[in-house]
Amino acid sequence: MQNASTIHKATVIGAGAMGSGIAQVLAQAGVQVFLFDTKDEALDRAMSKLRGTMERLVEKGRLTSEEGEGILGRIHPILYLREAAESDLVIEAIYESLEAKRSVFTLIDDVVRPDCILATNTSSLSIAAISSGVTHPERLIGLHFFNPAPLMPLVEIVPSLATDPAVVARCEAEVLRWGKVGVVAKDTPGFIVNRVARPFYAEALNILEEGIADVPTIDWAMTHLGGFRMGPFELMDLIGHDVNYTVTETVWTQFYYDPRFRPNLTQKRLLEAGWLGRKTGRGFYNYHEGSPSKEPKTDLELGQKIVERILALLINEASDAVYRQVASPSDLEVAMTQGVNYPKGLIAWGAEWGFGQALKTLEALLSRTGDPRYRPCPLLRDWAEQPPII
Ligand SMILES: NC(=O)c1ccc[n+]([C@@H]2O[C@H](COP(=O)([O-])OP(=O)(O)OC[C@H]3O[C@@H](n4cnc5c(N)ncnc54)[C@H](O)[C@@H]3O)[C@@H](O)[C@H]2O)c1
Repeated sequence: MQNASTIHKATVIGAGAMGSGIAQVLAQAGVQVFLFDTKDEALDRAMSKLRGTMERLVEKGRLTSEEGEGILGRIHPILYLREAAESDLVIEAIYESLEAKRSVFTLIDDVVRPDCILATNTSSLSIAAISSGVTHPERLIGLHFFNPAPLMPLVEIVPSLATDPAVVARCEAEVLRWGKVGVVAKDTPGFIVNRVARPFYAEALNILEEGIADVPTIDWAMTHLGGFRMGPFELMDLIGHDVNYTVTETVWTQFYYDPRFRPNLTQKRLLEAGWLGRKTGRGFYNYHEGSPSKEPKTDLELGQKIVERILALLINEASDAVYRQVASPSDLEVAMTQGVNYPKGLIAWGAEWGFGQALKTLEALLSRTGDPRYRPCPLLRDWAEQPPII
């Protein structure tokens, strides 16, 4: 259905945090972008934010002022969707509601040419559900950018059952052209990153709830010994517990309450108390000026146990994502290193540490707790015998 030409004109629907960032990415790659929002003030806010960003990039010497002006000049705020008629691509980035997204695609379907690709930036809804009812589901696909879109290199490309393979290929080429790294993910809850990263938070919360170590000690272990840029609690506080808890709960419910994805009450209580993290001044840490900070217990043996326990669960989740063909092993490695800055790909890490060690750690946890969240993936058992070649 699609020809191989590049995307020259694109429309971004929803000018919020993600939509404005996506518009910037595309305009930086030379695409003419029409930015649409139902609220005029959202468009004004997005345009002045984009202007501020360009000014900062020029000040820092990352762009010349001509380049900055050129990028801004390629972003056209529009008040009527019919102005999107000539688009080669539409990316929807409105709030996370199946009904609202479906109605946007129903509207846009009548406006654009039949060869226009329709993409959604949803992070938790199924692409199949969004595309059902759309006249041409074969041209609808997930393009999942990460926040902030201009800085985060990864884009998960998520075809539904109905998506034309030519649309997938075209999106892979376009994402590269925008200077991003694309990985193809199966249309399953959390796609790659939001699924595989769940134990980074959940197992840290379990270790805390079991009284094995406190918050600063777990963060210290994961950064100083594990090599992660941020510890799980610092990161949850940064993401915000409203966002992070909701992703966990959504993945868990969509996997029919699989205990592997079960949320933790400790985080729910923070959410209920309004302690959302940095943005409210308090989460696991207190960010108000002058608040006392607690020192970690820098016990190497304890720290190593913490890292190994969380790592074993991450490796198990990574092997399950490959086992269930959510992603290829190489896309999985790219997603976790480039999408969420893990110090190593989880398969490479498993091979280095020993998949057998990860398996032993899980089996010990399973036998001690009886909790099926620790059940090893069949592929992890295979890899313990024969590590994969990637
Ligand atoms: N924020 C993140 O970290 C993040 C990361 C990846 C993906 N996402 C996904 O991206 C999407 C957008 O998230 P966000 O954080 O940018 O939201 P946001 O609330 O910042 O922005 C949404 C914008 O959409 C506009 N809008 C609402 N209904 C509309 C409609 N019918 N037509 C046009 N515009 C409409 C709103 O006025 C608002 O400006 C969601 O699906 C979210 O799940 C978010």
